[in-house]
Amino acid sequence: MFLRDTDAKLTLYLRRASRLKNPDPARVRIMEGDVLDRSTLEAAMKGQHVVYANLAGPMAEQARVIVDSMRAAGLKRLIFISSMGIYGEVPGEKYRGVLDPYRDSAAVIEASDLDYTILRPGWFTRDEAVDYRITQKGEPFRGHDVSLNSVSDLIVKLALSPTMEVRHSLGVSRAA
Ligand SMILES: NC(=O)c1ccc[n+]([C@@H]2O[C@H](COP(=O)([O-])OP(=O)(O)OC[C@H]3O[C@@H](n4cnc5c(N)ncnc54)[C@H](OP(=O)(O)O)[C@@H]3O)[C@@H](O)[C@H]2O)c1
Repeated sequence: MFLRDTDAKLTLYLRRASRLKNPDPARVRIMEGDVLDRSTLEAAMKGQHVVYANLAGPMAEQARVIVDSMRAAGLKRLIFISSMGIYGEVPGEKYRGVLDPYRDSAAVIEASDLDYTILRPGWFTRDEAVDYRITQKGEPFRGHDVSLNSVSDLIVKLALSPTMEVRHSLGVSRAA
């Protein structure tokens, strides 16, 4: 969607660059690195406007490195993918320990001075539709799943706006 619908230039940062074929070398730079490797991450951040992070694993530690690297690189805008359920906001569900890395990483980001937007999507589907609703932190999560196209649509809108939903944590689910 970034390449199709915007004129953004992208730096894609991943642990094994050979896994990715560059879809548009004029606009896309691929950099190999681990998020936990602060110096490589900081180098990748130089000259960027927005950081979009979509991770798994030791997410609290990853969030700490991202926040520190962004501060050092002079960046403010972060879009961070988390999961539904981190605040106990999904009616009838108790995800407990499995969500600890998501909960702890969100807490690290919320305690930072970044212009963050945390996304708490439902289960991803490959449904083509762009069809979603947002719930704010403090509201019950509604629904259960959401198409990847919907999450992508929201990420692109957020990345293009320095002010949209800044310092908010959003539940994202399929509209009724
Ligand atoms: N699937 C769902 O329905 C769903 C719903 C809600 C939320 N979520 C959350 O959304 C996020 C993305 O989901 P997904 O299904 O795309 O997960 P995924 O396939 O596990 O992707 C996680 C990515 O993080 C990368 N990564 C992990 N540690 C890294 C590090 N230290 N440095 C650089 N990259 C690192 C992995 O890279 P490698 O390829 O190198 O391992 C992988 O590409 C996850 O946090 C997931 O829990 C998923």
